[in-house]
Amino acid sequence: MRNYAKSIALYERTRRTLAGGVSSNVRYASAPVPLFFERGEGARLYDIDGNVHIDYVLGNGPAILGHAPKPVIDAVAASLAQGQVYAAQHPRETELAERLCRLLPGIEVVRFATSGTEAVLMAFRLARAFTGRTKILKFEGHYHGWTDQAYISARPSLNEAGPADSPVPVAGSPGMPPSVLEDTVVAGWNDLDLLKQAFERHEGEIAAVIMEPVMVNGGPTEPAPGYLDGVRALCRDNGALFICDEVITGFRVGLRGAQGRYGVTADLTIYAKAVAAGFPLAVVGGWRDVMDTLLDKGVMHGGTYNGNVQSMAAALAALDVLEANDGAVYRDLEARGTRLMQGLAAIAEKHKMPVKVQGLPAIFQVYFTEGAPPRNYRESVACDRDKALAFHTALQEEGIRTNQNAKFFLSVAHDEAIIDETLAAADRAMAAIA
Ligand SMILES: Cc1ncc(COP(=O)(O)O)c(C=O)c1O
Repeated sequence: MRNYAKSIALYERTRRTLAGGVSSNVRYASAPVPLFFERGEGARLYDIDGNVHIDYVLGNGPAILGHAPKPVIDAVAASLAQGQVYAAQHPRETELAERLCRLLPGIEVVRFATSGTEAVLMAFRLARAFTGRTKILKFEGHYHGWTDQAYISARPSLNEAGPADSPVPVAGSPGMPPSVLEDTVVAGWNDLDLLKQAFERHEGEIAAVIMEPVMVNGGPTEPAPGYLDGVRALCRDNGALFICDEVITGFRVGLRGAQGRYGVTADLTIYAKAVAAGFPLAVVGGWRDVMDTLLDKGVMHGGTYNGNVQSMAAALAALDVLEANDGAVYRDLEARGTRLMQGLAAIAEKHKMPVKVQGLPAIFQVYFTEGAPPRNYRESVACDRDKALAFHTALQEEGIRTNQNAKFFLSVAHDEAIIDETLAAADRAMAAIA
């Protein structure tokens, strides 16, 4: 058994002064306790007990270039002595805005924010101001941050969630005012008929439809062929904006995110996480007429750390790497991720474990199920989570770090040797739980 004595002791100490011993509730989900790390380098993390982990959590997505990527670290280090926040503009903001608008589909104008959560709120406000409507339609199992307005039906218990064809909005946390549920319509994802019906039930009321274009938080699942185009058209027909939350998929599933991959263009898009390769940055971008409500209608958006010097420097340096040869790193990432996905499926078959490895090469999950691959949140949570947890635990024992659902984020730093090492460890882990 790996030894976590120092993490356990430090967690006990930390809990006395840091609520729950963590800075984000997501981090509770770690055994035997939330682990403490002292260093990350490339694909590896080093914990305070001296255990080495090949990391497939990657900070839940940002570390697309691995931990402490040299080009980004060098650029940020060079910027440090210039200051951090000016409460004013600086040239790196202009450069980054121009590069993003040049690169990304449907992005004519951007605004910078610090976290995905607040960027989502800004998109909601823009959509409401632009359309003069109030309701936001979101999909069951999709996560858009932890706020009152967004943390609704992100991972609802099916006892509370109502029928699949017209789910009941479920508040995700105590302390959320019930009134937020009135402004939220929840639909099942990946089914155009369900969305059509929701538009009919709320005719003329929906300001925007927001989604993770590839469901990741509810379990990695690609949109069905034609689904995103259909959503695009339904939004247009019903006078609602289409908001793509590419906080995870942006700069991960391809240089131009899910929209580039599937050839669809939203009205507003939110990027965060991988865009600055580990530094805090979120971007809201979209068509000029929508974004211009900031000026025309005086829509308020603020934030002390927005556009801070280091995040701008990090994003520019990350883009240099990600954009080189029109996204050559993504072709490698795709090939390695595909090999890992196929290797994991073959290992499961060898050990006679019923498994579907699903998602995209840069973000996928090992689902334990005898059934068909899940297409939405309800099918995803119907898979055997205890088996997934057992696999995650066995992987951790072998030095492979995934989240507790056996979800894998890949980075550019996961080279062929790391994939080989991972597959050998996964073979032993699968044998242990079979
Ligand atoms: C799809 C999606 N949207 C929004 C958020 C919120 O972003 P942040 O954690 O930066 O506030 C997340 C975070 O995991 C996310 O996965």
